[in-house]
Amino acid sequence: MSKNINNKLTRLIKYYSLINHNLILSNKTINRYNLSQPNIQKDKALNLQKLRERINEIKNCKLKENASNLVFSDGNPNSKVMIIGEGPGANEDKEGFPFVGRAGQLLDKMLNAISLNRDNVYITNVVNYRPPENRRPTEKEIERYLPYLKKHIEIIKPKIILLLGSTAMNAILQNTEVISKMRGKWYEIEINNIKIFSIVSFHPAYLLRQPDQKKFSWIDLKMIRDKLKKIK
Ligand code: URA
Repeated sequence: MSKNINNKLTRLIKYYSLINHNLILSNKTINRYNLSQPNIQKDKALNLQKLRERINEIKNCKLKENASNLVFSDGNPNSKVMIIGEGPGANEDKEGFPFVGRAGQLLDKMLNAISLNRDNVYITNVVNYRPPENRRPTEKEIERYLPYLKKHIEIIKPKIILLLGSTAMNAILQNTEVISKMRGKWYEIEINNIKIFSIVSFHPAYLLRQPDQKKFSWIDLKMIRDKLKKIK
């Protein structure tokens, strides 16, 4: 009898350690940072607040006019790892947080595989308002939002940036390459005088359509895990 209960308990513990149980058990948004959290440095919190307000004050922008919410960021501002996606989709626009839809769930699973989660990464996008019909942001839109993204990076001061998809890669690395050529390597970049290791990988939305490419993402994730060990 007690052996049975022990077996069941062991199976349950294994199950909950394999899944992101926070996402399943909680009906609220999770791990959202709160700028009044005492462990976020005051000037960092203030600078994030100011940046958010500046983006909120953007005028004459088609993206903003069509969106319901500003999607600023999620995760922990003290993280060593900053993740940059393309732009909010319908779910993100509704909830006001990046990567909360299907691609976000896959991203959470990918991060969990290397012991990361929204408590130890910081997530944002190239553009902070949803492009209509989920189209790719135009060059002009990317250019307009780039100074805000660079400021965002300057405030967070990550050690590592993970660029998900070609929009983020093209914007930050200032190239026109494709992901398949650029992924799997470290690039030492400098943004607003901050030196950062950056790595490029497939966007989770692409991986949902092309699951056979996940093996390459796994290589990139392991590179991040190893780099984190070295810079700790
Ligand atoms: N895709 C992105 O690039 N960003 C999000 O926030 C959601 C989906």
